[in-house]
Amino acid sequence: MKATHQCHAADPFDYAPVDEILERYQGQKGATIPVLQAIQEVYGYLPRQAMEYAAKQLRIPFSRIYGVATFYAQFHLTPRGENIIRVCQGTACHVRGAAKIVDALKEQLGIEVGETTEDLKFTLESVACIGACGLAPVIMINNDTFGRLTPEKIKEILKNY
Ligand code: FES
Repeated sequence: MKATHQCHAADPFDYAPVDEILERYQGQKGATIPVLQAIQEVYGYLPRQAMEYAAKQLRIPFSRIYGVATFYAQFHLTPRGENIIRVCQGTACHVRGAAKIVDALKEQLGIEVGETTEDLKFTLESVACIGACGLAPVIMINNDTFGRLTPEKIKEILKNY
């Protein structure tokens, strides 16, 4: 039977993209990961409603889908910001003051590492060496790299996003 979102009339969540994804992977074994990847591509993260709905339609326990979603670092269970800031915590950056850069970012954004600002503009994450050790300490914002950072430079950089 074709999956349908009609039964969610009172629920404002848009299930249509999930229906389309499930239709694409219908009957395929081991579809959980590709289905979750496709859901994340649409919504930017994995909304709980979408996972519950997918579990129901795929006739697998929600706990299994949730287990996969939490096991892989590629999946995000909460909305992410429009801009992803990655602070390098590798050895070179660490010895050259990455902690001060993290503090400056936390202060400017008002969030902790792993969180997203309320306006969904920025998500702050930490990563291991990003291969630009000569420029330590380094951060990346989306695909842009900023090196030889000082806490003072952070404010200026953020203004451009
Ligand atoms: S340790 Fe930060 S770029 Fe290598």
